[in-house]
Amino acid sequence: MSGEGPASTSCCGGCGGQGVEGRNTHSPSWPGVSGPSVAARAGIGGPDKPGHDEGAGACAGACGCAANGADHAPTATSDHAPTATYQNRRGELLHYFDRTAVDAWKRLTSDAPVNRIRATVRAGRDEMRNTLLSWLPTDLHGKRILDAGCGTGALSVEAARRGAHVVAIDLSPTLVELARERLPKDLGDGSIEFHVGDLLDPTLGRFDHVVAMDSLIHYKSRDVMRVLSGLAARTDGSMVFTFAPRTTLLTLMWTVGKLFPRGDRSPAIVPVGQRKIKRRLNKGLASWHTARTHRISRGFYISQALEVVRT
Ligand SMILES: C[S@@+](CC[C@H](N)C(=O)[O-])C[C@H]1O[C@@H](n2cnc3c(N)ncnc32)[C@H](O)[C@@H]1O
Repeated sequence: MSGEGPASTSCCGGCGGQGVEGRNTHSPSWPGVSGPSVAARAGIGGPDKPGHDEGAGACAGACGCAANGADHAPTATSDHAPTATYQNRRGELLHYFDRTAVDAWKRLTSDAPVNRIRATVRAGRDEMRNTLLSWLPTDLHGKRILDAGCGTGALSVEAARRGAHVVAIDLSPTLVELARERLPKDLGDGSIEFHVGDLLDPTLGRFDHVVAMDSLIHYKSRDVMRVLSGLAARTDGSMVFTFAPRTTLLTLMWTVGKLFPRGDRSPAIVPVGQRKIKRRLNKGLASWHTARTHRISRGFYISQALEVVRT
């Protein structure tokens, strides 16, 4: 699968308005991420082991990210300050999504023809995006939405079309630039503000809803919990995100992925048991509880959506 681009379990797929101003309006300064902030106003992804909660799956597709680590040492002092594992993985994901897999990712997220494997990933991702969007209020006028790990921005566009002001952030300057280029002229009353940086940057402000589609699947579950806990403190309504469910197929893919040379692999995904993640969230997030969940399994795309709402 190496060289095939997007083809994996909820993995990156790399292994598998009007008046876009394109000016910098925000410079996320959260520890460990640098790079230009691109804001466009419209209308205006260690020692991972499989089969364990902290274990890792791996997409069997094209990868090859060298951990380039974080650019700066952490300086934040809050409980939500990034851990070393989070920063290392973030560095790998930045390299992967901004370099290694960027062309495959561009293609996967376009209408260009793709092979059968990638077509399953694309179909699964479309279904997942629709699922997550269907869990948000139909009318999003007046709502601030965080698209955490927005990639090329497809979900942001749909949310903005329903009236939301979307804050869309991604580590990859290249993907954010592409999202900005792909922005449709007419977003109705909605708007999108693009940023390059870390989805947990507190300077992004408060939100009514947070959506994180396949952006947390590469992080260890304790880091995912820290992210959700950090976002929960700044979110008034709900958080919808995906995780990689621990399934036999996913474990198999992890095994196959291990057969590829390190340089051909994407950052590992981390399968999580459904009951465990729900238990942790219900216990760990005061005033929040888990609600809807839905698994999508389409060929090489396996990912599970989970909704967490304020009690
Ligand atoms: C599999 S892609 C999904 C992109 C988009 N959500 C979608 O579904 O089309 C995961 C994205 O999450 C981004 N990402 C991962 N960790 C991030 C972080 N800590 N902050 C911001 N973006 C992150 C990656 O750069 C990548 O573009």
